Amino acid sequence: MSDLAVEVTGLTKTFGTFTAVDGIDVTVPRGQIFGFLGPNGSGKTTTIRMLCGTMRPDSGRALVLGEDVVRHPDRVQRRIGYMSQKFSLFEDMTVDENLRFYAGVYDLPDDEFAAQREYVLRMADLVGREDELTRNLSVGWRQRLALGAATIHSPELLFLDEPTSGVDPVARRQFWDLLYDLAGRGVTLFVTTHYMDEAAHCNQLAFIYRGRIVAEGTPDELRAEQVDTRIFDISVADADLAMAALEADPEITEAYLSGASLHAVVPASSALSAADIANRLAASGFAGAEVDVVEPTIEDVFVNLVSRHR
Ligand SMILES: Nc1ncnc2c1ncn2[C@@H]1O[C@H](COP(=O)(O)OP(=O)(O)OP(=O)(O)O)[C@@H](O)[C@H]1O
Ligand SMILES: [Mg+2]
Repeated sequence: MSDLAVEVTGLTKTFGTFTAVDGIDVTVPRGQIFGFLGPNGSGKTTTIRMLCGTMRPDSGRALVLGEDVVRHPDRVQRRIGYMSQKFSLFEDMTVDENLRFYAGVYDLPDDEFAAQREYVLRMADLVGREDELTRNLSVGWRQRLALGAATIHSPELLFLDEPTSGVDPVARRQFWDLLYDLAGRGVTLFVTTHYMDEAAHCNQLAFIYRGRIVAEGTPDELRAEQVDTRIFDISVADADLAMAALEADPEITEAYLSGASLHAVVPASSALSAADIANRLAASGFAGAEVDVVEPTIEDVFVNLVSRHR
């Protein structure tokens, strides 16, 4: 048995004259949480569709759980789970009916379904809500039910396409606890997300931009690669306006909101200090800014990668 869950070389998908996925290579060892990051329209969902065997690539090779997914999509599909970017649940069905539906899709024997149903209900904290209509559940609960439905057949590899979009921070935390739990049971997770705090929870990351992989590595490796820049964290009133002032400064490569503060990027060779930045802001009418040099976060890595490839 191959120790790789996903092994992709030169995978390409075009729509007419537009190349959505442009010859990517991706390797995901079994048991890992693999984060697939990229801005809107960069090719993440298209890649996942090809890896699930629901969309044919134009060229390239994709082995999923050791099987050629283009030649044998059925062999792959039995062993993987997929939680789509859009809701994959039936709103008019109860919790129990949704689980039964997915068990039916995978032809799960009754005894196996009973055991998995128990596990999923406990995992999703839905015990006692089996007969509730799915549409009446909170978003966080629905997300957990969707995860349960996607894992009802105990897949070895689970694709999660932005599983937590629109979910509040507490529910996201709970959802990630469930993902760790699955990873702990040996399930490989292939996750796309726009939340950079979630990216930091992954073992391995790849950034896709305009259909091409522009960086990959562990979160620490990617942060360590940011040696050619320095990053300042800036707390200031009227952050939006202050950001425009920083962006207009020719010595500053990039300025953007990062949580409640601003981040400004300068080349490592720049002599600009934190005090210089505070002084320039004060001169532009933004007094009292607190400026510190900080270590890059995954979000900083991401913003800088995109600005470099623009
Ligand atoms: N069936 C299709 N026909 C034509 N173009 C498509 C089709 N599916 C996707 N595209 C285009 O391919 C590009 C990549 O789309 P994809 O959905 O893979 O991006 P994504 O990275 O998942 O984006 P998002 O973060 O918004 O979900 C986009 O420009 C999209 O418009
Ligand atoms: Mg997508």
